[in-house]
Amino acid sequence: MVDSTEGMIDREDSSTSIPEGSVMLTVNIQRFDPEVDDVPHMETYRVPALPADRLLNVLHYIKGYVDGSLTFRRSCAHGVCGSDAMRINGRNRLCCKVLVKDLLGDKKNEVTVEPIKGLPLLKDLIVDMEPFFKAYRAVQPFLVTHGNEPTRERIQSPEDRARYDDTTKCILCAACTTSCPVYWSEDAYVGPAAIVNAHRFIFDSRDDAAQERLEILSDAEGVWRCRTTFNCTEVCPRGIQVTKAIQEVKRALMFRRV
Ligand code: SF4
Ligand code: FES
Repeated sequence: MVDSTEGMIDREDSSTSIPEGSVMLTVNIQRFDPEVDDVPHMETYRVPALPADRLLNVLHYIKGYVDGSLTFRRSCAHGVCGSDAMRINGRNRLCCKVLVKDLLGDKKNEVTVEPIKGLPLLKDLIVDMEPFFKAYRAVQPFLVTHGNEPTRERIQSPEDRARYDDTTKCILCAACTTSCPVYWSEDAYVGPAAIVNAHRFIFDSRDDAAQERLEILSDAEGVWRCRTTFNCTEVCPRGIQVTKAIQEVKRALMFRRV
């Protein structure tokens, strides 16, 4: 265990003042450096944080002032890019959407941060996303049309647009797929996010490849592996009804009708 209290005092001494209203937060982070470690281990940091800070700010603080080797992904810091999905106190969340004030309350003011599960671990909080994106690409997540190009835009009624509105919100954070116990145990399963993105086009009235996508999802690695545990729906930071989308794809497969 690394107690970084000393490093923090150094920071205070070096004129970077700790803001008024800060609380001390204990942050347990899973660390793994493939160049020196055989297995991951936990390290603990005690750092000041404002209740209104996001947990992502806290990771930046640790990286900036305590341990520059800490490695994690992030980009937008506003819940848009989906790059900072992590296991926070055992639940998949976007680190930039978790406020410090929501981690306080118990006497310890403690939080545990680990990488998402089910994908190869590269370093610290970073996993290899390629298997996730491979499954995403497999469902053809783009509009497919046959025949002559129309001379004007493809018209769609508000009712037809509403059929897949929910699944357009996906930001490909992988929180759903990597919270699924089936995905952890059987890496051939395409996972909830790929099905959500297939749903987005299967139910689009302008698209002509619904049957092809259903065929892809009907095979051994497809939707039938889903055991309806609802983990995916519970963790989706966009509030997408992931399980419902998977059920709609299953129904479309059973009746071969969208
Ligand atoms: S469905 Fe939700 S949890 Fe899954 S990848 Fe998309 S945004 Fe993330
Ligand atoms: S950093 Fe972009 S979603 Fe969190």
